[in-house]
Amino acid sequence: MRINIGDISGKVGEQVELKGWVHARRDHGKLVFIDLRDRSGLAQIVLTPQIEGASDLRLEYVVGITGKVKERPASMVNKDQLNGAYEVEASTLQILNKSEPVPFPIDTDGYEQSDDLRMKYRYLDLRRERMQRNLKAKHEASQFIRNYLTEKGFWEVETPILTKSTPEGARDFLVPSRLQKGKFYALPQSPQQYKQMLMIAGVERYFQIARCFRDEDPRTDRAYGEFTQLDLEMSFATQEDIMQLAEDLFTKLTHAIFPEKKISQTPWPRLSHKDAMEKYGTDKPDLRKDKNDPNELAFAWTVDFPLFTEQTADDFFHGSGSAKFAPSHHMFTAPHPDDVALLDTDPMKVRGLQHDMVLNGYEVGGGSVRIHQREVQEKIFDLIGFSAEQKKQFDYFLSAFTYGVPPHGGIAPGLDRFLFAILGEKSIREIIAFPATSGGQTAVMTAPSEVDPKQLKELGIEISKKE
Ligand code: AMO
Repeated sequence: MRINIGDISGKVGEQVELKGWVHARRDHGKLVFIDLRDRSGLAQIVLTPQIEGASDLRLEYVVGITGKVKERPASMVNKDQLNGAYEVEASTLQILNKSEPVPFPIDTDGYEQSDDLRMKYRYLDLRRERMQRNLKAKHEASQFIRNYLTEKGFWEVETPILTKSTPEGARDFLVPSRLQKGKFYALPQSPQQYKQMLMIAGVERYFQIARCFRDEDPRTDRAYGEFTQLDLEMSFATQEDIMQLAEDLFTKLTHAIFPEKKISQTPWPRLSHKDAMEKYGTDKPDLRKDKNDPNELAFAWTVDFPLFTEQTADDFFHGSGSAKFAPSHHMFTAPHPDDVALLDTDPMKVRGLQHDMVLNGYEVGGGSVRIHQREVQEKIFDLIGFSAEQKKQFDYFLSAFTYGVPPHGGIAPGLDRFLFAILGEKSIREIIAFPATSGGQTAVMTAPSEVDPKQLKELGIEISKKE
């Protein structure tokens, strides 16, 4: 039976069966050495030329070998490698599949390669040790989150992907409807309204490892198109409850999955938006003591944001464009209870019950206590300049607000962004298995692409101009 390469150290003197890829090959004539790789690690395999196929091996061939695990002579031990003290003396070799010469080396960290090439052959790029580590970290983080929240009484609930435009501040991706020609679904920028409706539905504690879709320009810490949030919402919870839960979850997750990392300050420092801006000139300050220490993690909370910012041209997706105010977070964030009266007199002075989770200078999560009274929600719609027509589009939401809405709130840490920050990666794309390029082209499969005219006809769509 095949064992993992990572497990050979416990099998000295035993006959084992290994399967994997040829990671490196050294042909010494009398002997052929290969480094065999599987997901768990590398091991040196020694093959004599008598073994059929030994001299045919090339990089990235897929092979199965059987052989005996041995300790290497002391002079040959490589202490820095997982299996550096062992090797396997092969007795049989089976070539399971051949490989063309790969378009770039995969025994490097890959940063030196062109992005286009890495994305075209992402399935090879992902074979790198670093990329496998990143994929594994995301899996482990998701699993930890699921277990933690399940223990705390949260239910994981799926919300629709084909839905209505959600106002998180970016452009939507639209999907044409075939059954109702001329109408469109929008992909959710976040499950914000659905999670609030789940609170109205009495779910009380919800989470989802949710895919979010936003058509906005990518940055180092911002993926184009889609990314993943840990979206959560709690009924009858105060802002303090939400922050404590998120802080406890991410502190424990960090200790469990990244034991080499050190959180520089616990409990996490809390800064008011005003103080952060005055002291650091940003609402997401990098509070690390030593920015060169790759293992230092400086978490922080920023609170007491103003509920509104001045509306700019970019905010037209929120309002009609004529209003002065744009929501700092989103239009469902509750005003600070002490400031409600100011909504009528001096809205820019109103603080919002928003909380941002900051890590090493990145905003890794955002959330708030929500408005749960219909009148307040309507007032916010007015202040951000919603026309009667725009308000009508939210009828379903406002009417849901007339049926006993519990006070509620939540947060959505970006899973990719959190891992990007914690792993100190160069780009958030290093955390996503198949990310889009900055031009909005998907990895490997080159979407977007043209479609069959028949499909367009069925959707009632005509292309007026091609770029
Ligand atoms: P917000 O828009 O602040 O809030 O997003 C929350 C978190 O999601 C992550 N994030 C992204 N990560 C990668 N690429 C992107 N393009 C991207 N955009 C956002 C960030 C950010 O902090 N519904 C609210 C949450 C709430 O109020 O509960 C929301 O989506 O880590």
